[in-house]
Amino acid sequence: MKAILYDRYGPPDVLRVADLDVPEPSAAQVRVRVKAASVNPIDWKVRRGDMRLLSGFGFPRSTGSDFAGIVEAVGRGVKDLAVGQRVMGVQSSLAPRNGSFAEAMVVDAARCVPIPAAVGFADAATIPLAGLSALQGLQRLGKARAGARVLIIGGSGGVGHYAVQIAKVIGCHVTAVVSRRNIEMARGLGADVIVDYGATDLVSLRETFDTIFDCVSAWSARRLARQLAPGGVYVSTLPGPDSFLDMGLARLSGLKHRILIMQPDRQDLRRLADMAAAGQLRPIIERSYGLTDAVRMHQDAEASKTVGKLVMSVG
Ligand SMILES: NC(=O)c1ccc[n+]([C@@H]2O[C@H](COP(=O)([O-])OP(=O)(O)OC[C@H]3O[C@@H](n4cnc5c(N)ncnc54)[C@H](OP(=O)(O)O)[C@@H]3O)[C@@H](O)[C@H]2O)c1
Repeated sequence: MKAILYDRYGPPDVLRVADLDVPEPSAAQVRVRVKAASVNPIDWKVRRGDMRLLSGFGFPRSTGSDFAGIVEAVGRGVKDLAVGQRVMGVQSSLAPRNGSFAEAMVVDAARCVPIPAAVGFADAATIPLAGLSALQGLQRLGKARAGARVLIIGGSGGVGHYAVQIAKVIGCHVTAVVSRRNIEMARGLGADVIVDYGATDLVSLRETFDTIFDCVSAWSARRLARQLAPGGVYVSTLPGPDSFLDMGLARLSGLKHRILIMQPDRQDLRRLADMAAAGQLRPIIERSYGLTDAVRMHQDAEASKTVGKLVMSVG
């Protein structure tokens, strides 16, 4: 089978097409014939070596976290998935092998859920990592509930475009922060108010928000303190030294500051699948690629200008 590998950390062109043996699932795993995969910032951040203390120094490595495909083998301990089932899920982004940029992959069954009949492979492959991040960031950390006023910074990206839609499903009043070129897109997602970050400094907003979900982290919780309603929560999707410093200082000032670490929770994945089946979660796919376009796909993703998601069709 063909898979995308790399032999050292570096720019997108370290990625190469390799021929590998088809992997065998262990007791708790399934083998998935990959039909589609999507790219997330963590994929190119790991490839670049940004997280090498966590991702380690073993090569060759594979790439790709999100996948959608068909189960073609199950480990002997797997009781709730069967050969032939359509599934989607998220591989560990730090795992050195069995990434989703491949014709087949083995993955823990606990990271997969069935794809509803109404949802295609390409759409399904865009949902897991970004959808889980949006859902968990808004609800678990941000405590967003019906009637809450929510500010979503970066409403046009992979996480943000799902966050706008999920916040509307929850029943929130949503203000989305996007650039001018994405105003109509944010309106189409259901945002109640749209702020063009090129024309408005967020610190000048007079409204206050119960949840600020920041997918960009160009602002800090402390700079946005006046935009947080009493008891409101600021959530950043960027776990890094700057965010942790901001969190420490924000907490000293009495602000509620949270940093997202996405969890591959199956119940949350099922909820996202249900929302997609009900037409409440509509992926926006900016561009599609083939398996041999992995270098270009990483280049495009790394420019951080993606509107919605980038998808790879495999097989
Ligand atoms: N901690 C976790 O568990 C976790 C999970 C998921 C994601 N993340 C992180 O969250 C971040 C977002 O992920 P993503 O998948 O949404 O990335 P993405 O799809 O690459 O985001 C690109 C989008 O961000 C918009 N953008 C760029 N600068 C902006 C600004 N100043 N204000 C508003 N929008 C801006 C861009 O629109 P314009 O080009 O039009 O500005 C583009 O649509 C990444 O850093 C990722 O690593 C973390």
